[in-house]
Amino acid sequence: MPGRICIITSIAVLLIIPSVVLGCGFHPNLWCSSPEISEQCGVQKQCLLWQSEQKAADAPLVRYELYFESLCPGCRQLLTTELYPAWQKVKSIVNVTLVPYGNAIELEVAGKWQYTCQHGPQECVGNLVETCALSILPFDKAFPFIYCLETNNPATAGSQCAKELGLLSEYPSIQNCSEGSMGNALEHSMALKTEALNPPHEYVPWVVLNGAHTNAIQNQAETDSLGLICQAYTGVKPAGCTQEGRMRSPRD
Ligand SMILES: *[C@@H]1O[C@H](CO)[C@@H](O)[C@H](O)[C@H]1NC(C)=O
Ligand SMILES: *[C@@H]1O[C@H](CO)[C@@H](O)[C@H](O)[C@H]1NC(C)=O
Repeated sequence: MPGRICIITSIAVLLIIPSVVLGCGFHPNLWCSSPEISEQCGVQKQCLLWQSEQKAADAPLVRYELYFESLCPGCRQLLTTELYPAWQKVKSIVNVTLVPYGNAIELEVAGKWQYTCQHGPQECVGNLVETCALSILPFDKAFPFIYCLETNNPATAGSQCAKELGLLSEYPSIQNCSEGSMGNALEHSMALKTEALNPPHEYVPWVVLNGAHTNAIQNQAETDSLGLICQAYTGVKPAGCTQEGRMRSPRD
């Protein structure tokens, strides 16, 4: 990482003079290895700064999980106006997990799952196409595809979205998956993930941030997902966190 090399170099330059003067007797690699050595070499302040920079550079990604169903209006709004634009701006600091199942119900009949969806059979089709896309495509292709479905019609816009996004060669396997046993089984794993929520979801969309769901997290997710992600990130904030676009028109 160029940034890290730069920090190390500038610390080395800063530290060579005092240590030569003090003759602390340790190789520069060891100066920050313990509080005693950094004190002996007269570099406590620099080491604390360096260590906090190291910690910031290694910050874990913010985990943002969205439990939703393909046709619920609130889900579509959150996904298309909040989460997707935020992800585009700060994808380097967030790990998004999409779970298209929501308030569906499943029933095992003769070794297959039968799904009943809140907004009817079309919603189940949308959930299946999205679930298959998440399984078949890398996430940075699956999310734009799902965004496109959610801004159109999740049950029918598959081939149009695939065309727009240059995914025509992948689309046949997504469609085949959604119509067959593979999609049926994958959707069951979405059901299990949803049913494993603790606390259980009470509505959709349902946001879990770094493993937690609270009213405050949910409210901010619905109005300012970008701010939510940026505030939760403990590392150095990327440019996308400070760009304009935080102020949105009120929701209808
Ligand atoms: C994102 O989260 C998933 C599930 O928790 C995990 O398997 C995956 O490795 C994470 N990706 C990154 C880039 O950390
Ligand atoms: C279609 O899906 C079925 C199961 O869902 C699978 O066995 C088959 O290999 C798939 N065919 C293609 C061409 O992907």
